[in-house]
Amino acid sequence: MGQEPAVIDVHCHILPGLDDGAHTFETAIDMARAAVVGGASGIVCTPHHLNGVYKNPGSLVLHALADLRQRLADADIPLGLFPGAEIHLVPELPSRVLDGSALTYNDRGKAALVELPKNTVPRGSEVILGQLLRHGITPVIAHPERNLVLARHPNRLAEWIDWGCKIQLTAQSCSGDFGERLQRLSRRWLELGWVHLVASDAHRPTGRSPDTLSVARACVAEWLGEDAATLLTLDNPRRLLEGTDLLALPPCMRADTTPLGGDWLRFLPWQRRAR
Ligand SMILES: [Fe+2]
Repeated sequence: MGQEPAVIDVHCHILPGLDDGAHTFETAIDMARAAVVGGASGIVCTPHHLNGVYKNPGSLVLHALADLRQRLADADIPLGLFPGAEIHLVPELPSRVLDGSALTYNDRGKAALVELPKNTVPRGSEVILGQLLRHGITPVIAHPERNLVLARHPNRLAEWIDWGCKIQLTAQSCSGDFGERLQRLSRRWLELGWVHLVASDAHRPTGRSPDTLSVARACVAEWLGEDAATLLTLDNPRRLLEGTDLLALPPCMRADTTPLGGDWLRFLPWQRRAR
């Protein structure tokens, strides 16, 4: 333990029994142990909210968080837990964030993790994102590389970044676990300076696990250097927790701006499953 570089994971489904992540306290504790092995000192608990299946109001999340904190303390696991939510991009999102029923990062009212459907960008998305921004709440777009429309039309994402949205990639997209093409897309967006955070989006103690973040961090360090890897996995996560603005990577001169070419999107893992 403690051999991996320090990270803070800002997207993780570790709270038990709230969504499709950990189902039991035992599973959650196994995920916490995996996170510590991967160098994590903290995890933001981000259960699904408003995605049509799970609601998880803030009060419930805070209660579950307190329970798990106590369990980790009892098990002597040195891992900080912080409140949050992965909020589906729906019209009621801004009002739910403003009334506190949907949790922002560390409950500070400064930044919210926003999830899109996999295959579409819903009509009115820009209006909703604009409403959040006008209220001083920074949308952190969860894994846009896994959205079919944004992967195909990245200029739309670039426009959101210009407005002030921040970008969180999934660790397994960077590491290549989700395929070589998605890894190339992730690397390109990293080199363009579009990415602010990399997080595990872990749901289990193994496979989609918290320690995937350390593997992704090593990839980012290889591509962009140690400082960039630290910014995306430790410094910017700290800023989220403090409620301060995230820093952007400088665009990298190595960024390949040629089109990826072909109908490579057909090879994305969820597209394969849909066929
Ligand atoms: Fe998630």
